[in-house]
Amino acid sequence: MSAHLSPAIAYDPVAGLHIREISHRPAGPGEVEIDVRAAGVCHSDLHILTGDWPSDRPLVLGHEAAGVVTHAGEGVSAVKPGDHVVLSWFAPCRRCRKCLAGMAWLCTGTQAVANTLPDGTTPITDAQGEEVWPYLGLGAFTSRVVVPESAAVKVPDELPFGIGALLGCSISTGIGAVMNTAGVRPGESAVVVGAGGVGLSVVMGLRLVGADPVIAVDLSAERLVAAERFGATRTLDAATTDVAAWCQEELGGVDYAFEAIGSAKVIETLPGMLTSGGAAVLVGMAPADATGAFNLFDLADQGKRILGCNYGSSVGAIDIPKLARLYLAGRLPLDELIGNVRPLHEAAAAFEDLRSAVGARTILEP
Ligand SMILES: NC(=O)c1ccc[n+]([C@@H]2O[C@H](COP(=O)([O-])OP(=O)(O)OC[C@H]3O[C@@H](n4cnc5c(N)ncnc54)[C@H](O)[C@@H]3O)[C@@H](O)[C@H]2O)c1
Ligand SMILES: [Zn+2]
Ligand SMILES: [Zn+2]
Repeated sequence: MSAHLSPAIAYDPVAGLHIREISHRPAGPGEVEIDVRAAGVCHSDLHILTGDWPSDRPLVLGHEAAGVVTHAGEGVSAVKPGDHVVLSWFAPCRRCRKCLAGMAWLCTGTQAVANTLPDGTTPITDAQGEEVWPYLGLGAFTSRVVVPESAAVKVPDELPFGIGALLGCSISTGIGAVMNTAGVRPGESAVVVGAGGVGLSVVMGLRLVGADPVIAVDLSAERLVAAERFGATRTLDAATTDVAAWCQEELGGVDYAFEAIGSAKVIETLPGMLTSGGAAVLVGMAPADATGAFNLFDLADQGKRILGCNYGSSVGAIDIPKLARLYLAGRLPLDELIGNVRPLHEAAAAFEDLRSAVGARTILEP
């Protein structure tokens, strides 16, 4: 069978970041074929390039994307050709104990985090017939993907594809961290350390639920200005401020401290920012082997909590359409999260945008 080849942004340990011609096999039972229209560049893609999360297999990167269904395999009922969908990288199996308990973000049946389809295979081969693997089960930095039905979430046609792309990861993670993981209530105080695509979404979520004050912390002055636009009531320069000391002196500690960088050093400082009973929310993803140290007496004595946060504790099929509706109702300023829009072949420049921590999220269009 002579398959149609199209360029994809790939990574392997030898070639590094490169463009590779790939093709997908057709969608099988329970699978959906999607034309990708927009894909965001998230720090979780960059973690692969930096070696924070080593991969010995060649990967097609990209896990924050939206597009249009072109084919639905046998038995697929949630979407049909022509539907606009957001790709959800934590494709739940809907059968394991966590899924049945409503905690799809902890699904033990998914293989997405192993960068394969649910059956452990890949739908992708390159021009030489070599297998290439879909990052987080999606591999969205290309023009077409084949994914399990539960990875494709139908959204209204009027939702712009760029916004849909970001709903697939940074926005649902950041807002979900506030609403689902932490359950922040009106008037509670919060610090957000790291104001990239994810951290700014945490700030937006805090404004949505009526948190106050909301303190954003970053090393980039531009990011701090953005945080104010998204609802931060105060910003602090991480390079010159001891944030924990500031929180204790000014506020007697905060109710919630969110980390949206993935830095072990920063995560270790979170409990010191909290008031008694407060919670540190770990949204940033540290390198795979990172460990950290806390004052254990303080944690127990002050009843402080540490909350891990995978995918904003979101159920994609519920949370993504909910956030899309809030955006379409004018309740979330998501347009401001979109920075440069680049063609796919400018992926290297897009990663530079992310590294430089200026501007908002870069979108790649195939
Ligand atoms: N929990 C999840 O499911 C989930 C989902 C998506 C992304 N993530 C993770 O969230 C993290 C953030 O992702 P992103 O795409 O927003 O990244 P990003 O690179 O866009 O943003 C990171 C921000 O942190 C700032 N920063 C770096 N070091 C700092 C320091 N010492 N003090 C203060 N600010 C600092 C940078 O200036 C930048 O603005 C990554 O680790 C990513 O892998 C987690
Ligand atoms: Zn991501
Ligand atoms: Zn499951």
